[in-house]
Amino acid sequence: MQRMLSGIKPTGQLTLGNYIGALRNFVQYQDEYEMIVFIANLHCITVYQEPKELRKNLKDAVALYLACGLDPQKATIFLQNDVYEHAELGYIMACNTYMGELNRMTQFKDKVAKNEGNITAGLYTYPCLMAADILLYDPDYVPVGDDQKQHVELARDLALRFNHKYGDTFKLPEPLAAKVGARIMSLSDPYHKMSKSEHSDKGCIYLLDDPNVAKKKIMSAVTDSFGEIKADKEKQPGLYNLMEIAAALTNRQVSDIVEEFKGQGYGILKTYVADVVAKELTKIQERYNAIINSDMINETLKEGAMKASAIAHRKLLKVRKKIGLEIR
Ligand code: AMP
Ligand code: TRP
Repeated sequence: MQRMLSGIKPTGQLTLGNYIGALRNFVQYQDEYEMIVFIANLHCITVYQEPKELRKNLKDAVALYLACGLDPQKATIFLQNDVYEHAELGYIMACNTYMGELNRMTQFKDKVAKNEGNITAGLYTYPCLMAADILLYDPDYVPVGDDQKQHVELARDLALRFNHKYGDTFKLPEPLAAKVGARIMSLSDPYHKMSKSEHSDKGCIYLLDDPNVAKKKIMSAVTDSFGEIKADKEKQPGLYNLMEIAAALTNRQVSDIVEEFKGQGYGILKTYVADVVAKELTKIQERYNAIINSDMINETLKEGAMKASAIAHRKLLKVRKKIGLEIR
C-alpha cells in the first residue's frame, strides 16, 4: 500500500476551507493509502499563540479530525511534538537549506510584505521543519492545498540534495492537489482564499459555527450584478465559489449545479448552498460533541505517537549515521 502523509496547522479554528481542501479528502484516502496525519503544533508557534487558545485549538482539531471521519484504526493520527524526531531532523534540514531557497518561499514573502511585524526565525525556517515532517516517513504522496505546494517541492529538493551528498536516504515526495475545492474563497472577498486569518468573520465559515450563523454567512456572500447563473470563475468568482462549495460537499460537478439553477435568482442558489453547508456542519458537530469530552482523543494520540515514533526513530538513526553524527 502506498503511504500518504499530511499535517494541519490549527492556529485558529478549522474552517470550511480546511475541511473541503484537506480534511475531507483524508477521510477518502485512509481507505486507499496508509495514511499518516499529524497536528503540526510546532508550526503553530512560529507566530505567537495565546497558550490557552492554542491548547483549545489543538484539542478541537483532533476532535474534528475524528468527527470528520478519520478513523484511528486505519490512519495514524498524532501530535507533531510527541515525536521528538521532527525537531531534530528539522534542524538537520535547516543545515542543508540555503537562505536563498527560504527567501523564495511565497508564503514567507507574503507575510513579510504584509509587514505583520515580529517575524520570527522559526517562521523563516518553517519549510525546513515541514521537510523533516515529510521525509521522516518516506511518503509517496503529500496531499496539500495550493498554498503548500511550494513547501512540498522544497522538501523534494532537500531530499534530492541529501541523497546526493550522503547516499540514498529519503524517498522523494509528490504533492497531491485536490481536484475540486483546492481553493475555497472568502465569502466576503472572493479574490482571497477563505482563511482563519481574515480580518472579518463574515467571509469565513468555521466547522464549529452554529449552522444558522453559517447559513447567514452564505446568504450574505458577495456575488456580482450580472444576475445570471453561469460557471465563470473569472467574471463571477463569488458565485462560482458558492457552487464549488456545494459541489464538493455533495460530490456533484459545478456544471451539474449550474444546470439545476440556470435561469433562477441568486437567492435560490444561495439557499441551496446554505442548506448543504448547514447539514454538513450539523453532522460534524454532533460527532464532535460526543468526542470532545471522551477518552478518544488521548487514546488516539497515544497510539498514533507510538506508531509514528517507531518509523521516525528508525529514519533519524539512519540520518545521524549517514551524516557522521553517530559515533557508536
Ligand atoms: P491552513 O489552515 O492554512 O494551515 O491549511 C491547512 C490545510 O487546509 C492545507 O492543506 C491548506 O491548503 C488547506 N486549506 C486551507 N484553507 C483552504 C481553502 N480556503 N481552500 C482550500 N483548502 C484550504
Ligand atoms: N504547513 C502546513 C500548513 O500550513 C502544515 C504542515 C506542516 C504540513 N507539516 C506538514 C502539511 C507536512 C503537509 C506535510 O497547512
